[in-house]
Amino acid sequence: MYRPYIICHMVTSVDGKVTGDFLSRPESAKACEIYYKKYRENKYNGFICGRVTMEGSFTGGWYPDLSKYEPIRPDPVRMDMLLDEEYMTGFYAVAFDTHGKLGWKSNRIIDPDGDPAYDGAQIIEVLSEQVDERYLGYLEAMEIPYIFAGENEIDVEFALFKLRELIGAEVLYLQGGSIINGAFQRADAIDELSLVVAPTVADKDDKPLFWNGTLSQYELTETETQDGVVLLSYERKREE
Ligand SMILES: NC(=O)c1ccc[n+]([C@@H]2O[C@H](COP(=O)([O-])OP(=O)(O)OC[C@H]3O[C@@H](n4cnc5c(N)ncnc54)[C@H](OP(=O)(O)O)[C@@H]3O)[C@@H](O)[C@H]2O)c1
Repeated sequence: MYRPYIICHMVTSVDGKVTGDFLSRPESAKACEIYYKKYRENKYNGFICGRVTMEGSFTGGWYPDLSKYEPIRPDPVRMDMLLDEEYMTGFYAVAFDTHGKLGWKSNRIIDPDGDPAYDGAQIIEVLSEQVDERYLGYLEAMEIPYIFAGENEIDVEFALFKLRELIGAEVLYLQGGSIINGAFQRADAIDELSLVVAPTVADKDDKPLFWNGTLSQYELTETETQDGVVLLSYERKREE
């Protein structure tokens, strides 16, 4: 299991959902505050998010005009693009972006609130081979490192192996949303769960902690309550 240790850190509703309007309800504000504070206290090598979450939190759906960029052709296979070690910061925002749909205006996260837990994190794009070759040209022009981890879909295990091997990430937070969490859970790549439970029930259409999750066992390691919010920590219990 040569890969970063993964902590899935999420705000959930009391009925185990992680997306939707319940997150912006005043009753959930304390839970969100505790969630960010907890991550800020020890952010390790940074965080991973799915394409939709990155778009909602950071890029706002902006996309570059790809006609301005030179295609990077496979030679003979897709090649990862990393920067020299001295330009790698050790604090990363890892985007699982299967088709290269994210438009970044900088190679660092610019957090709207300047939150030190996110602001300045070096962006790494994890891609499948379905990506437009001009998107690679754009990433190179922006000096955004990218790695390939699958032909049609991102193979979570392979991506994590590369993140450990190529950028030396030892501990990363997985911060949603539901779809990417589910892909990690199915790959048995979540070592720890850190849940901040808001005292709110979500809507029927909101998505669960793990989209299409599978049966697996976790051991409760810590419980805490703070201002009506429950914090739960679990560790993955694996067969010896
Ligand atoms: N409660 C919390 O703490 C919390 C934290 C973060 C986010 N959120 C919420 O989560 C919501 C977004 O969650 P979401 O579930 O819709 O999307 P998501 O998990 O953020 O992103 C899913 C996307 O990731 C890409 N992806 C890359 N590799 C993948 C793989 N191996 N398997 C599956 N998908 C992969 C796909 O992009 P393509 O579609 O481009 O192929 C997929 O559609 C937001 O509304 C946000 O508010 C909540």
